[in-house]
Amino acid sequence: MKGSRALLVPPAALLGGCRGIQAALDPAGEQSRVIGSVWDLMLIVCGFMFALVLLFIGWMLWRAWRGRGLAQASEAAMSPHERGLDLTLRGWSGLIVIGLFVLATGSFLADRKLAALGAQPALHVRITAQQWWWEVEYQDADASQTLTTANELHLPVDRPTEIELKSADVIHSFWVPNLNGKTDLIPGRTNHIVLTSRRVGQLRGQCAEFCGLQHAHMALDVTVDDAAGFERWRQRQLQGARAPMTPAQKAGADFFVHSACAMCHTIAGTGAGGKAGPDLTHLASRRSIAAGTLPMNRGSLAAWIADPQSQKPGTNMPTVDLTPDQLNVLVDYLMALE
Ligand code: CUA
Repeated sequence: MKGSRALLVPPAALLGGCRGIQAALDPAGEQSRVIGSVWDLMLIVCGFMFALVLLFIGWMLWRAWRGRGLAQASEAAMSPHERGLDLTLRGWSGLIVIGLFVLATGSFLADRKLAALGAQPALHVRITAQQWWWEVEYQDADASQTLTTANELHLPVDRPTEIELKSADVIHSFWVPNLNGKTDLIPGRTNHIVLTSRRVGQLRGQCAEFCGLQHAHMALDVTVDDAAGFERWRQRQLQGARAPMTPAQKAGADFFVHSACAMCHTIAGTGAGGKAGPDLTHLASRRSIAAGTLPMNRGSLAAWIADPQSQKPGTNMPTVDLTPDQLNVLVDYLMALE
């Protein structure tokens, strides 16, 4: 899809430092490429104008230095110098009008193109932002094919995915820079955004609207899979939670469903059906904990459960009183939920 770039050599391609899993200058999606072409156009038009301004300043300084500057302009009504100045100013005004017209046209065309790209979504996902995490629901007309996860978004490559954006509390903003621009999630309102990734790989999204104490720790792991990989992930997520196998895992499961944990979290296929916090049915298959705050591993999970406030001050996750043994079996159980 290289041809979809409006310009042959995107200036962004020359800037090696602007690449990565969370970089608007490294577009991986159909939509972000359109936005990228507007950025390229702006850089070229504004860069050209800036270069002209510098050139004129240099010329003026040179004239002043040569003693033929403005101070020597004659008192006559329209000296040759003034006529030259008049012509230059008219040309300059014309150039500004042309520059703005090019920018406005480029922006308008990009907007039309973006609107057309979302016409035929292949997949529907609802994302509900909460302080400070993302609830992600894959929707389907067949209820048995819907699934819920948190703080991660899996997308099939080359397939447009329409995302319905809602908020459960305050205004947040959904932003996966490599795939598209920002869209706000506003309480009482539903917004939409379409993502079509053209590249398989790992990306990162981030809440882009200040939403409270842990706004910065409100990240979203984005994984773009090929069709088969995405289907494998989806099928596994559709299944209920893995049953506890070892005595420790069984004790952990028993503790979970009979403690405060079950009041806030769901683990499909168990008695835990709380909705206040993230669904944990396949917790261990995720890349991070607490919306990108900690990497997913045994140590992080134990630290997070033992004292959430020290890991993410302000989080709504309460500290549950646990003995070291209870913490151990609980982590054993949760780490088995792949
Ligand atoms: Cu949610 Cu910032």
